[in-house]
Amino acid sequence: MEIDPQLLLQAAAEAAKNAHAPYSNYQVGSAVLAEDGSIFPGCNVENASYGLTNCAERTAIFSAVAKGQRTFKAVAIVASGNTIPYPCGACRQVLSEFCEPATPVYVASISNPATFDQITLGELLPKSFRF
Ligand code: THU
Repeated sequence: MEIDPQLLLQAAAEAAKNAHAPYSNYQVGSAVLAEDGSIFPGCNVENASYGLTNCAERTAIFSAVAKGQRTFKAVAIVASGNTIPYPCGACRQVLSEFCEPATPVYVASISNPATFDQITLGELLPKSFRF
């Protein structure tokens, strides 16, 4: 399957607009490319009880799983601010449940989506937990 990083990053940027982030004021968007070519977006959803916050990546994966998708070929993540938003440890573990280690992860700042970094999930999380 041909993967267009810019298309996936664009979907992530669209999702970031829907972020519910009144506490951190840090908007994150993600998009995952399913095996059948469909794209699922996600954004961070914060809560007044801070620990209940859900990251953008997990929102995207959980939404896709709810639609019956189980395997993903690429992941994109964008966020407000100037730093590249590498996914948190919890999201790396959740992604590893549904993506091969070779799966590309595209990461970019919303302010500069043309300059994205590309890394594999296996590089982000070697030896993920499984049983
Ligand atoms: N966040 C994500 O959406 N993804 C990550 O991988 C790390 C952090 C969100 C959670 C919270 O809403 C905000 O960024 C600040 O931590």
